[in-house]
Amino acid sequence: MTRRVLDVPGIAYGGDYNPEQWPQEVWAEDMRLMTEAGVNMVSVNIFSWALLEPAEGEYDFSRLDRVLDMLYAHGIAADLATPTAAPPAWFFRAHPEALPVDRDGRGLSYGSRQTFCPSSPAYREAALRVARALGERYAGHPAVVMWHVHNEYGCHNAECFCDTSAAAFRSWLRDRYGDDLAALNHAWGTAFWSQWYYDWDEILPPRATGAVPNPAHRLDWRRFSSDELLSLCKAEREVLEQAAPSVPATTNFMVMHNFDALDYWRWAPELDVVSNDHYLRSTDPESEIDIALSGDLVRSLAGGRPWLLMEHSTGAVNWQQVNRAKTPGELRRNALAHVARGADGIAYFQWRAAKAGAEQWHSAMLPHAGTDSVIWRDVVQLGSDLRSLAEVRGSTGTAETAIVWDWDAKWAVELPSQPSESVRYLELIRSWYEPLWRAGVAVDFVRPDADLSAYRLVLAPSLYLVDDAGAANLASFAERGGTLAVGFHSGAVDENCHVRLGGYPGAFRDVLGVRSDELFPLLPGERAGLDTGGTGSLWSERVRLAGARAVSSYADGPLKGVPAVTRHDYGTGTAWYLATLPDPDTLGALLARVREEAGVRPVLEGVPSGVEAVRRRGPAADFVFLVDHTGQGAEVAVSAEAVELLTGTPLPGGSVSVPPGGVAVVREPRGA
Ligand code: GLA
Repeated sequence: MTRRVLDVPGIAYGGDYNPEQWPQEVWAEDMRLMTEAGVNMVSVNIFSWALLEPAEGEYDFSRLDRVLDMLYAHGIAADLATPTAAPPAWFFRAHPEALPVDRDGRGLSYGSRQTFCPSSPAYREAALRVARALGERYAGHPAVVMWHVHNEYGCHNAECFCDTSAAAFRSWLRDRYGDDLAALNHAWGTAFWSQWYYDWDEILPPRATGAVPNPAHRLDWRRFSSDELLSLCKAEREVLEQAAPSVPATTNFMVMHNFDALDYWRWAPELDVVSNDHYLRSTDPESEIDIALSGDLVRSLAGGRPWLLMEHSTGAVNWQQVNRAKTPGELRRNALAHVARGADGIAYFQWRAAKAGAEQWHSAMLPHAGTDSVIWRDVVQLGSDLRSLAEVRGSTGTAETAIVWDWDAKWAVELPSQPSESVRYLELIRSWYEPLWRAGVAVDFVRPDADLSAYRLVLAPSLYLVDDAGAANLASFAERGGTLAVGFHSGAVDENCHVRLGGYPGAFRDVLGVRSDELFPLLPGERAGLDTGGTGSLWSERVRLAGARAVSSYADGPLKGVPAVTRHDYGTGTAWYLATLPDPDTLGALLARVREEAGVRPVLEGVPSGVEAVRRRGPAADFVFLVDHTGQGAEVAVSAEAVELLTGTPLPGGSVSVPPGGVAVVREPRGA
């Protein structure tokens, strides 16, 4: 598809703007304060369906007309949403069959949001009707610079187990298996436990049953559920595109914790602009690493191009057990860290803190306390910071290291009845990502079958499921001179969750030069000593060398003397196997060695620990973001031709001061 570009000057800044929550007298103040804060783009209409279409096919555009006109008059662009994440009550009264049914057969009610059956024809028809009406009315409106399709597809409930969904699932399966029921039976291994299907109509969604479900059935269901929502997103996007062929479209992803319903590798190519929502977890003492990981993943989904941070929070959210406020300077560090990872827009949920409704205790750009507040002052300051960074727009990343990320592998390794329930995909990825973050190494994320020619080092911390093409791609990367490091329990099964026979780690035995005949997962809290120091947790297996050499072996336990970490010369490259999860220091030291062998350097040498350094590359200059997480500040050596952009200060002394808990952004001419 031809990709349309978002036309907002500099870095976009704003948030979800829900004026329908307020009397119209407040709107003029909104415009004044948005101008004061430097807001240049807001997302409107996200949850306004009930007010916009009071009865089927009857529209009241008066409110939205006024809002868009006011925004335009104040030089603020609109990212205009289709409100299809929140169907009105009248719709469900007319179409109760469009309400979803959960795995246990419990029908859900309306009265909240994001509660509908993705396969419901009535829902699809209603969603496309309102999208078409919006497209036709506002295609030429000068405020509208982007379509915001729906909101966070997959949030809350992405699956529906009703009979309509069952029929849609069967038709998706017929497509996948070329209408060949025997192929499905083979792929799902239905000879096991008498699950053989003789008729397509016998196949159901994986509803609650008395015992463990069939893994391939569950995995195909997850693929189907992601595709079903994607087809809704594409249908809305097409309707909008017909009405306004030049306006780009986005939908907001949430790639990290809150839900993992969608295979975003399949979604991202369908959008003009990739955007993401990110929220801090109150329980994470190092949220800055989560932000970095999320940003690197989103930039990678966007094919390396800049992306938008569509939502994050100025302070506390309202959906965790305890919702912590941000510490001094954290709002600025968070926002600029997203810019450092490639965001060309920073937006919040939401503009004005709600007085009523389910999210009345969620922070906003304009808090309940009003403008005499720390949050408001920080919001105004951030607007000014982002204006200073306008020239950063369009610049990209510089990674020579890639981490393999795959939703099929994530879904599969977290299915029931695995060797260990403690293996959690995101935790493993983060364990490997953390030492790279601490060392200031730039990272991209890739699919197993990606073009890897730009990388020196490829890490696959957790790739339980891999198809033949993905496995061959990674092996040939090592064979042609790359450095590959693979984590335990990878390559174990194929795309149908069938175990790869002949020893573990299945698909990677040859490239890694090892063959394990039995798995010995460790109990929660159990540690296995390593003869080179440190311990392994979570996993061990009886690795036998088949070409590789042992780098580290178990010093105790049932596998005493068995290799835990191996290194294999393969072709002109190298392949490492980590058959356990080393403790953080040991893993850090190991990955530093792997990285040095691969010739991967940090973004900037000599940066003190706890100061994050990230580089964006423009055509004429590099932009180095330095974010202090130590609270101490730092002095960092840079080129003598560099300029610090937030303060506009030239740095002829060849050094920049990063304020305690603060940020510096340095422009270095290329080649300096
Ligand atoms: C999600 C939604 C928003 C809002 C925020 C609150 O990201 O998209 O509408 O509910 O969460 O954190």
